Amino acid sequence: MAENAFDVIIIGGGPGGYVAAIRAAQLGFTTACVDMRETLGGTCLNVGCIPSKALLQSSHLFEEAGHGLAQHGVGVAAPKLDLKTMLGRKDAVVGDLTKGIAFLFKKNKITHIVGAGVISAPGKVKVGKDTFAAKHIIIATGSEPAPLAGVTIDEKQIVTSTGALNLPKVPKSMIVIGGGVIGLELGSVWRRLGADVTVVEFLAEILPGMDGEVVKQAARTFKKQGLNFKTGTKVTGAKTAKTGVTLTVEAAAGGKAETLKADVVLVSIGRRPFTDKLGLDKVGVEMDPRGFVKTDGHFKTNVEGIYAIGDVIGGQMLAHKAEEEGIACVEILAGQAGHVNYGAIPGVVYTHPEIAAVGKTEEALKSAGVAYTVGKFPFMANSRARAVGDTEGFVKILADAKTDRVLGAHIIGPGAGELIQEIVLAMEFGGASEDIARTSHAHPGTSEAVKEAALACLGRAIHI
Ligand code: FAD
Ligand code: NAI
Repeated sequence: MAENAFDVIIIGGGPGGYVAAIRAAQLGFTTACVDMRETLGGTCLNVGCIPSKALLQSSHLFEEAGHGLAQHGVGVAAPKLDLKTMLGRKDAVVGDLTKGIAFLFKKNKITHIVGAGVISAPGKVKVGKDTFAAKHIIIATGSEPAPLAGVTIDEKQIVTSTGALNLPKVPKSMIVIGGGVIGLELGSVWRRLGADVTVVEFLAEILPGMDGEVVKQAARTFKKQGLNFKTGTKVTGAKTAKTGVTLTVEAAAGGKAETLKADVVLVSIGRRPFTDKLGLDKVGVEMDPRGFVKTDGHFKTNVEGIYAIGDVIGGQMLAHKAEEEGIACVEILAGQAGHVNYGAIPGVVYTHPEIAAVGKTEEALKSAGVAYTVGKFPFMANSRARAVGDTEGFVKILADAKTDRVLGAHIIGPGAGELIQEIVLAMEFGGASEDIARTSHAHPGTSEAVKEAALACLGRAIHI
């Protein structure tokens, strides 16, 4: 094969693209991955999942040192914040992990091409002056923050998540526009570090689409922690000055305008697909009205030899969903039966307590007219949660009323993001709540709350 020719070229080295590249190499394809960033890992590793989780952990420890240790009889002097070290640690975590992917690329003999890729024709990718040929091209170009009309991002006073991961000092006040996952995670970080944070949400509730009971509990808990909420409110404009940002807001339904002031404004109203300058119009790849690349359900676009995966094709904008799609896509290219079970993809909000969900919500089951049972168990009644001193929240499992098959689960509480995983596995195996209920869970463990919720689906909870 010519030097500049590959079996597979993947454009985008995020969790979708780099994982697809590794799987493609495992399957024996000569593989190249193009990314305009110097470092691999995409949004998730460079400016998303990982830096945000590093700051969530550091800010949680700061808050615990300030308020959480006294109940354990551990007295410490008021903690001092060294923000530079905290941000430096986050950058080091990201740096180490990006190097790890570069190592995996070398190990798997994947060619890493740095630069912006353009699909110049089917089977051809241009990067700068070089043109590369490929039997298969996979678009994995991800997403970018959705803009808000009248609110101009400068990444200093009005920031996206990228700017919010790197503020040089703790703002006295911060307004977060959008009460979704980014708003609550990064809003929590800066609140814990001392900012007065107000979340402005267009809809009546935060975390739209999540289970109603979980949303109620989450809103109560976040308010108790000191986050302020202005729901049912829309932002109509922003003005920046040396003294801060002034936002004009009004009721979502329309009404009298008022102003809100803050040092920093975070815009986190969702993300949109990123296909800028990729050349899709020229080669005729179809996109939907919102700009997502259209695929046939097997990652194939309407143009022969061009495929797409990850955030750029829509659905849940999650790293692990992109990874599963990347693997399934190249397995299909290799003639295997690659498949993604979209009904069992967990979603986690890494606040404290964490919020985790998989499958259907109770609201969705109701509106679909499905008969279901509900099993709920509060962490207050879980001995490990009591011993640790982290009792807020509950586990809720929804099962089919006739077959007992698990249809969904929603957890708010300590380590929810890890606890959900056994329910995801049960759902992958077509498991019933009885399967979880009859599985031995180590005592004392917060996972016993999952077992008890499963028992509660059957009307047999022991500890409540
Ligand atoms: P991306 O990760 O966006 O990668 C696309 C890559 O393509 C980028 O590196 C980009 O530079 C490159 N690219 C684009 N166009 C071109 C081109 N023409 N040529 C060359 N390269 C190009 N998800 C989770 O599951 N868990 C989390 O905890 C989580 N936290 C998040 C926190 C934040 C602050 C943000 C913003 C997102 C978070 N996400 C999280 C979402 C997650 O980051 C995305 O779902 C995931 O990165 C999507 O992967 P992807 O491979 O589709 O695209
Ligand atoms: P999001 O979709 O989670 O939340 C956006 C919020 O903004 C919604 O509540 C929406 O109602 C609100 N909104 C929309 N327009 C508005 C307006 N004009 N004014 C006020 N509110 C408005 O999007 P977010 O938080 O930006 O995150 C983007 C994506 O990144 C998410 O889809 C998520 O999948 C992913 N992500 C995942 C994380 C995780 O898995 N832990 C962490 C962070 C991001």
